[in-house]
Amino acid sequence: MSDTNVRPVPGDFASEAHIDNETYHEMYRCSIEEPEVFWAEQAKKFIDWESPWSEINTFDFMTGEASWFTDGKLNVTVNCIDRHLATKGDQTAIIWEGDDPEESAYITYNELSEQVNKLANVLKSRGVKRGDRVCIYMPMIQEAVYAMLATARIGAVHSVVFGGFSPDALKDRILDSDCQVVITSDEGLRGGKKVPLKANADAALRHCPNVHTCIVVERTRGLVEWNEKRDVWYHEAIAEAKDYCPPEHMDAEDPLFILYTSGSTGKPKGVLHTTAGYLLQAAMTHKYVFDYKEGDVYWCTADVGWVTGHSYIVYGPLCNGAITLIFEGVPTYPDASRFWQVVEKHKVNIFYTAPTAIRSLMGAGDEFVTNTDRSSLRLLGTVGEPINPEAWEWYYKVVGEERCPIVDTWWQTETGAHMLTPLPGAIDMKPGCATVPFFGVQPVLLDTDGKEIEGPGEGNLAIKASWPSQIRGVYGDMGRYQETYFSAFKGYYFTGDGARRDEDGHYWITGRVDDVLNVSGHRMGTAEVESALVLHPKVAEAAVVGCPHDIKGQGIYAYVTLMSGEEPSDELRKELISICVKEIGPIAKPDYIHWAPGLPKTRSGKIMRRILRKIAANELENLGDTSTLADPSVVDDLIENRLIR
Ligand code: WTA
Repeated sequence: MSDTNVRPVPGDFASEAHIDNETYHEMYRCSIEEPEVFWAEQAKKFIDWESPWSEINTFDFMTGEASWFTDGKLNVTVNCIDRHLATKGDQTAIIWEGDDPEESAYITYNELSEQVNKLANVLKSRGVKRGDRVCIYMPMIQEAVYAMLATARIGAVHSVVFGGFSPDALKDRILDSDCQVVITSDEGLRGGKKVPLKANADAALRHCPNVHTCIVVERTRGLVEWNEKRDVWYHEAIAEAKDYCPPEHMDAEDPLFILYTSGSTGKPKGVLHTTAGYLLQAAMTHKYVFDYKEGDVYWCTADVGWVTGHSYIVYGPLCNGAITLIFEGVPTYPDASRFWQVVEKHKVNIFYTAPTAIRSLMGAGDEFVTNTDRSSLRLLGTVGEPINPEAWEWYYKVVGEERCPIVDTWWQTETGAHMLTPLPGAIDMKPGCATVPFFGVQPVLLDTDGKEIEGPGEGNLAIKASWPSQIRGVYGDMGRYQETYFSAFKGYYFTGDGARRDEDGHYWITGRVDDVLNVSGHRMGTAEVESALVLHPKVAEAAVVGCPHDIKGQGIYAYVTLMSGEEPSDELRKELISICVKEIGPIAKPDYIHWAPGLPKTRSGKIMRRILRKIAANELENLGDTSTLADPSVVDDLIENRLIR
């Protein structure tokens, strides 16, 4: 890959952007050398405070402790709603585009305010107090946004669980953070198919005795079971609620939400984000990275169940008083033209999606794009995984007609907001490169000894100092927090990603260096899939690795060893796939199941994953050192029967 493939920012764009090259460098310098000045100015510009902070920031990366805008008081929903009402009450806040192209809705800031306040009062009437956790398990409908904001208004903490997760996955998350209220809907609708959310919630709640209230939004009017004591129809509860609920005065460091994400080991972790720093960086990046201007129609195609939906459908845009589009459906329904039809219908100016979606639409053919009018588009963005140059070129040429810059934004659930990304009027683009740090972000590359690599090179990507939207903890497990992020390299936050820095000092993400998969932009721990597979009584052992996949970026390749006397069969393969779907959700379906008579292990019994990864990727030239293997013949057998050639 050549670094000389540099695409200058399109000229018209650069002259009108918020931030040009010189401004970027000056602001970045200020953010690092005079953080007190820089952050005080940005915090006043982007946020309305009830009372000011006493100290901008303290942190200690030996332990991971961090505090931003200490003692400051604010409420996120005042910033996302109330303060816009005087000037923008009648402006659209949310455009909802349904799964069915005939269905859409426009919600003004006044309506948003009314709905959020009413729901906040409903939550209060059910006993929800400041600090309590509320689980949100919803389809992509406006009520999902109301639920998040209503929770924040009363100082409670939301935990949104992606609607594609199974009842078991939902149950684990509810129990881990002891949510006592769940907000869901009767069913979801995606690509014309119904998703039984309430039935899933019912199944999960059988094991969650502390949940006393389940608020159910009517979406499809599908038949649902009803528990009179626990279940409440959303529309009935709202009808009786008052339309003003005073916002709770929150401390800058009070928790705002928990969001579960996968790591290399064990069960998913509840990533904890707090109030002021998170909101500030979400709003700043939304404005500067997307070059958002008043009146722009902005569309992020993520689901609110992921961090991208939190920061870039809900908090960033609404804090900036933007028009944010939320889409219930899928990119290929009714056909592969859907994204671009929606762009045309709502005159979308800023469009943000994942490389996996781009690759799958690219495969469907250009006509699906060129049949639509995309002249409203001004900027394109990507997130979630490295974008391959072919997909980048197609996005740039066919979708954006070489008019729109592309921002390749690297960040994580844990970082809360963008960390590495070009600013569109300031930094020339390089296909596949996340380029430069956002204000205040200090990336470093570390070698295996934890020494900083200077100049061009490749290593482990770590961050040297706190940033406002930094993860503050793993819910209920501070030990795991330190262990996961602050122990591999003392004094640094470790991202789990590898990266390369080129001659211009620009960063290229090379992918995870730990046992985390990135399947269609969804994070998954290999350990989670393995635990699901070994639940099957016929399975003795399983090892899961990622493998190359044209559309998903990474596929799931599972090596499965059966109990002695058991035989592989197509039926067993199906059972194993469904056990993954049941335990985690459809995103965890293995693409390949390799029946392995044995797994390569060291003499101390540790599975040698490096070798399994190479065999799955059909990279056989350089298997590395196999001398520590207990039984080298195991490897020959796996190679012989490899599934990707
Ligand atoms: C990967 C999603 C390359 C990376 C916001 C990271 C990326 C993980 C990019 C976080 C990008 C995200 N280029 N890789 N632009 N953005 N990643 O927590 O491996 O779901 O660690 O957050 O996605 O995934 P998460």
